[in-house]
Amino acid sequence: MQSDIERVLITKEEIENKIKELGKTISKDYENRNLLLVSILKSSVVFLADLIREISIPLSIDFICASSYGNDTVSSGRIKILKDLDINVKAYDILIVEDILDSGKTLSYIIEMLKLRNPNSIKVCTLLNKSKENELKIKCDYIGFTIPNEFVVGYGLDYKEKYRNLAYIGVLKPQIYKE
Ligand code: IMP
Ligand code: MG
Repeated sequence: MQSDIERVLITKEEIENKIKELGKTISKDYENRNLLLVSILKSSVVFLADLIREISIPLSIDFICASSYGNDTVSSGRIKILKDLDINVKAYDILIVEDILDSGKTLSYIIEMLKLRNPNSIKVCTLLNKSKENELKIKCDYIGFTIPNEFVVGYGLDYKEKYRNLAYIGVLKPQIYKE
């Protein structure tokens, strides 16, 4: 698995430190609010699991499973909701927890869908933001790292369902997905 990685982009320690920072900021910003973290399955679960343990105020979590990529490295633009939320979001301040913002198609679809359910507020926290501007100009309220426009894996992110269990974020060798 490690031999498929061209280089480490963000180390385990860098991720840990960044999540501590994000957790502190979110705890402060959402004090006395009704915080609901909505994680977009599956890639953002590792980030969610670490992030909630750095947030010191009461919170709830729920999950949406959306698929846009299939097994390719380029967004198909087609978004399918495979699993919806269980919680009625009306009384909640939603913070969407995303692993990576690329074209923004997935997020923008989910934001529009959640807006229709009249929550108190909706904000977005993404661990990674690809540096090319997302086509849909989605505003991210919390960003972990801005990264080059390369395909990355690890820390929840996959290629064909593999590499999610790497503790760091790495760039996959191009020959792996050109094979
Ligand atoms: P978007 O709709 O193009 O913004 O793509 C969003 C989803 O595609 C993310 O939530 C990821 O699951 C996946 N994705 C985008 N870029 C990468 C990448 O570099 N590595 C792994 N998954 C990615
Ligand atoms: Mg994914």
